[in-house]
Amino acid sequence: MPDNRPIGVFDSGLGGLTVLKELQRVLPNENIVYFGDTGRVPYGNKSNSTIKSYALQDERFLLSKNVKYIVAACGTVSAVAPDTAKALPVCFMGVVENSVKDAVECTKNKKIGVIGTSATIANGAHKRLIEKYLPDAEVTTSECPLFVPLVEEGWFSADDEVVIGLVERYLKPIKIAGVDTLILGCTHYPVLKDAIRKVMGDKVMLINMGYSTARAVKSDLERLDLLNDGKEPSVKEFYLSDITSGFSKICKILLGEETDGDKVGLVDISKYEASFD
Ligand code: DGL
Repeated sequence: MPDNRPIGVFDSGLGGLTVLKELQRVLPNENIVYFGDTGRVPYGNKSNSTIKSYALQDERFLLSKNVKYIVAACGTVSAVAPDTAKALPVCFMGVVENSVKDAVECTKNKKIGVIGTSATIANGAHKRLIEKYLPDAEVTTSECPLFVPLVEEGWFSADDEVVIGLVERYLKPIKIAGVDTLILGCTHYPVLKDAIRKVMGDKVMLINMGYSTARAVKSDLERLDLLNDGKEPSVKEFYLSDITSGFSKICKILLGEETDGDKVGLVDISKYEASFD
């Protein structure tokens, strides 16, 4: 039976729009409800317990929108808080597992790099999973906390020496390790792909977690017979926990299209329970 309920997508803020972009490309007929926790972003420098309780509230909010499937578009939530999805009454997908599977498939020299927020890298989820699928892999990781504000400031050009300087500095251990595959383990990093490619060289395969995840969501929906029938044009709804003046500019950077702030719902996320007990 086709299922026209929306897919719920959430992130700590607007970064998840890079994942939404891939979902739209791979699943153009699906309705999507996006929640960005812009009032509490960033998650990447918070404690594990805070990230978990925020993720639970985000999931609760999406459930209130009658979603059929939830995607945690956030690298940090996917690494630190996948357990929050255990009690969900709908299917859930994070962005870590499928990007790891793609990386393991791509690598020839078994040297894989991972970059992400501080919480993501400290958690080690990517490394554990890579070693599960490819036990003799050599994994080099690097936390890149300044990439998120850099992108949101609109600084991502590969011709900008400040951008290149920062990319070189963060990626140095990964470049020295000689990886042939690099997982971009945070929502904002695909925007920096030209700069990252310039530093790492053309031969290094960059894994976009949004694309890896969108393909996996599609095959899940097919397997579970939950695809939308596509008879009506698909609808996207946006909800945020704070709407700032920079909203439109950041959307353009991350999604590649303007999003009208008037069409965005403001959510008091604190009223959603941080548990499923
Ligand atoms: N969305 C987050 C991630 O992918 C980056 C921003 C944040 O730190 O909350 O990890």
